[in-house]
Amino acid sequence: MNILIIGSGGREHALAWKCAQSPRVSKLYCAPGNAGIMQIADCVPLAVDDLAGLKSFAKDQGIDLTIVGPELPLSLGIADEFRRDKLKIFGPTRQAARIETSKAFAKDLMARCRIPTAASQTFEHVDAALRYLDTCSVPLVIKADGLAQGKGVIVASTRQEAEDAVRAMLDRRQFGEAGARIVIEDFLQGEELTMMAFADGRTVVPMIGAQDHKRIGEHDTGPNTGGMGAYAPAPLATDALREHVLHDILYPAVEGLSRMGSPYYGVLYAGLMVDNGRSAVLEFNARFGDPETQVVLPLLKTDLVDILEAVVEHRLDQIQIEWHPLTAVCVVLASEGYPGSYRTGIPITGLDRIDTDHVIVFHAGTRDDNGTVVTAGGRVLGVTGIGPDLHTARARAYDAAEMIAFDGRYFRRDIAARAIPTSV
Ligand code: AMP
Ligand code: GLY
Repeated sequence: MNILIIGSGGREHALAWKCAQSPRVSKLYCAPGNAGIMQIADCVPLAVDDLAGLKSFAKDQGIDLTIVGPELPLSLGIADEFRRDKLKIFGPTRQAARIETSKAFAKDLMARCRIPTAASQTFEHVDAALRYLDTCSVPLVIKADGLAQGKGVIVASTRQEAEDAVRAMLDRRQFGEAGARIVIEDFLQGEELTMMAFADGRTVVPMIGAQDHKRIGEHDTGPNTGGMGAYAPAPLATDALREHVLHDILYPAVEGLSRMGSPYYGVLYAGLMVDNGRSAVLEFNARFGDPETQVVLPLLKTDLVDILEAVVEHRLDQIQIEWHPLTAVCVVLASEGYPGSYRTGIPITGLDRIDTDHVIVFHAGTRDDNGTVVTAGGRVLGVTGIGPDLHTARARAYDAAEMIAFDGRYFRRDIAARAIPTSV
């Protein structure tokens, strides 16, 4: 089979790494890819939003399956475009992807399907939003409706902060049109958990639970990032909790979308707040999470291509999905300054010293500069350690992280520490 992966981050490197292990794959392409992906796939210089270019490439190269990494092409309708020309593509249609691309849509779906989530209201006008604030107590969460690169969520701890956030989004269009509509939501307490699932419109199969670390600073301080590290399986995701998430959240969402005429094919990502064994949805994403994918796919035993193909052909019920009984911890190495501005083009050393039996270095923001791997983004590498338990996996990830050097390298030292109380 010829496979095309769309995207250029750690998630896409993990997808490519797993696909490359499939005996069914003869040729692997990635658009646009990065310096790590380039070692296992042919990278093609096509942007993720170049739908026409990607479609002609898939046709010309006889691509049998295209896998979409990021949300942007999904929001532009890449799955609809490819399907129209009978090209097989893994990812939801534009309508189904609204579960991620419009928070108001997701909240409405959850209300209709009685999916547990924080109470909320949606607004387009400042006056109505401010009147609603008067009826609420803080903390409150103000969310831009559309895609805002993970920045469109503000947790307000005072009435004034909430009002400022409302005005910034609705009046001053801080997030552009993504904030022309906002959701004001009650603040939930608890611990966050990511549950991703494969869904073919009918059958839903959850993956192992993972935990992400969104803030830049240790002990969850400072601004939000794309994710500074992750581990899986998360001890928080007990069998009972997974069952509850499957039956009370994932199935109702997929069935609700089917009833609306927008069946969901792809990975459904549920970002959850777990409190006392019950979970509520913070957000849905219409794709694999990053960095979660960098800890989940290394533990997948089953051939990923078999699973993705089964989703695309709506026969997921015929597939048995198995996991290695191991643990993975991913530490993200970032550029100094991220999530603000940072320099790029800095040479990376030490990549050849890694113990590749137990560690996988997934590239995120890297580029090949005439044979030298240099930094090319905020999140540069995801160093995933694998072991029989969390402690060993974590030690392996950190030992490797220390060996990799580049000017301005930054990483959090408390990834997965929460799950091993004695480690901090
Ligand atoms: P979202 O993009 O909706 O997942 O929000 C980004 C982050 O904001 C989440 O990972 C949480 O840390 C936080 N967050 C979002 N909604 C809530 C909520 N209702 N209560 C508490 N924290 C929240
Ligand atoms: N790790 C969060 C996300 O992929 O959206």
